[in-house]
Amino acid sequence: MIRHMLVLGALGDLAARYLLPALARLREAGELPEGFRVSALARDDQDTPGYREFAGENLAEHAPDTPEAARSGLVEALEYYQADVTDPERIKAALGDSGEPVIVYLALPPAVFAPTIEALGEAGLPEGSRIVVEKPFGEDLESAQKLNRLLHDTFPEEAVFRVDHFLGLQTVQNVLGLRFANRVFEPLWNHDHVERVEIVWDETLALEGRAGYYDSAGALKDMIQNHLLQLLCLVGMEPPLTLHERDLRDRKVDLLRAVRRLSPEEIEELTVRARYTAGRIADREIPAYADEEDVDPERETETFAEVTLFVDNWRWSGVPFTLRSGKALGQDRSEVSIHFKPVPHSTFAPEAKPEPNVLTLGLDPDRISLDIEINGPGESLDLEHLELGSELSPQKIPAYGRLLLGILEGDPTLSIRGDEAEESWRIVEPILEAWNADKVPLREYPAGSGGPS
Ligand code: BG6
Repeated sequence: MIRHMLVLGALGDLAARYLLPALARLREAGELPEGFRVSALARDDQDTPGYREFAGENLAEHAPDTPEAARSGLVEALEYYQADVTDPERIKAALGDSGEPVIVYLALPPAVFAPTIEALGEAGLPEGSRIVVEKPFGEDLESAQKLNRLLHDTFPEEAVFRVDHFLGLQTVQNVLGLRFANRVFEPLWNHDHVERVEIVWDETLALEGRAGYYDSAGALKDMIQNHLLQLLCLVGMEPPLTLHERDLRDRKVDLLRAVRRLSPEEIEELTVRARYTAGRIADREIPAYADEEDVDPERETETFAEVTLFVDNWRWSGVPFTLRSGKALGQDRSEVSIHFKPVPHSTFAPEAKPEPNVLTLGLDPDRISLDIEINGPGESLDLEHLELGSELSPQKIPAYGRLLLGILEGDPTLSIRGDEAEESWRIVEPILEAWNADKVPLREYPAGSGGPS
């Protein structure tokens, strides 16, 4: 395992809320290698004691359940380097002269990815080093291709880890267990039996001070281009031979390649974009998105996106897959639901029409349920709806921890391969273009509601 990590952008939100807590949890679980250390780089005038204090405070806030010993053990392994991360000399200083391979984590705004990758190339990283790139990976197909080429100038593909933290979620991984470790579902997992599939990530969270990033992204780029398309891959792909990175990622790319690029007419009919107006969620007053600090209302950034896609292959021909995500909604709801077709003939009286079965995978909290029909306890031939459900035990290692473990071990199974990133843009790009050209009206919904009607 690699023992030295460089975090570029170490004072940012990502490092504070996700990376440091995940590393502390891995330390607690005994998963960090002996002598593990982190060089934290950021522009700010700061020193190592100051950075350690920052890390300690953030760990107390974001990893309160991780024992104090693991938190302080991690804090002692942090060294701060004030640095412009596009300056190869500062990177060399942080690398030191041990010659050992490093993991470089780009916890940076996407605008500086390219100059930073160039600077890493100039600094010359030790053989066997790895690079981790956060989303968004590019902002359209062309920029993603360009970024891939730039990365490949310095790193072989096996050393590039493109992060999508949804792949580290236990329930997301459970899609694989459910599909491929059970005989009962797979024979039904196709257009003969499935009517439609919904992949939903509704949040009560609003902007939460992230205008700097979010206002130039919006829900389509923030959630659908990456997280929800990844879920679509796992739900829709053909069974991989094994769960090794190549088999799994080849099958995911096959699925993405089969997703139809929507035509202009389909985009008008099958996509929805909207943004929230002022409202209330529980006891929180939420201002209209357009009035949030640092938001440019003229940009018309959507905070809600819904897209219905089709997978044009033998298994899924004609089945609509609806992907939806929105912010400032009345309820958190994150799930994949497989809606089966109705039974071919109803044996029961017309008024006792059986409801079609629905298999739901709740992603947060982790839950699985299957809606079935049975004979009710009253009239012997009446039907009753029954939900068979189970809560899944909470995840021991957070999603970021699982991803980091793969990176430390050099296993890219849970990271996005370059061609996957490009294929995802191929699907989303025509929708983005149509939205930017106002071909689909920007609708509104009050914060705290269920979304646009
Ligand atoms: C992030 C998005 O990638 O995922 C956020 O940028 C979103 O907008 C978040 O809220 C949802 O994931 P989690 O794990 O933070 O609930």
